[in-house]
Amino acid sequence: MEYSDKVVDHYTHPRNTGVIEDADGEGTVGNPVCGDIMTIYIKVDDDEKITDIKFSTFGCGAAIATSSMITEMAMGLPVDEAYNITRDNVADELDGLPPIKLHCSNLAADALQVAIDNYRSKNE
Ligand code: FES
Repeated sequence: MEYSDKVVDHYTHPRNTGVIEDADGEGTVGNPVCGDIMTIYIKVDDDEKITDIKFSTFGCGAAIATSSMITEMAMGLPVDEAYNITRDNVADELDGLPPIKLHCSNLAADALQVAIDNYRSKNE
């Protein structure tokens, strides 16, 4: 199984790990296949832009790399744009994932959407 240099880089040096205690939105998803679990936290400013984002995960290397990458992709984006980041976008930014690990990229994209849903539900 071959991993791209970007996957290895994000797995060995994950960006934006941790917890935001006073997050404006928080989303946790689990992968029923493997039991891995991930939470993404976001801070959102008055212009609806993501000003901070962190993740914590009990997951495999691909899950860590995809979470790390999605935090870099979403930082600074309006929440509406961040919501549209797909699993495929994340995998593409990482220069691909081995086919057997593609399902791992679901966690990151899904957790970000749940975090944004959570933010929206608090601000309706
Ligand atoms: Fe569980 Fe990758 S094996 S998310």
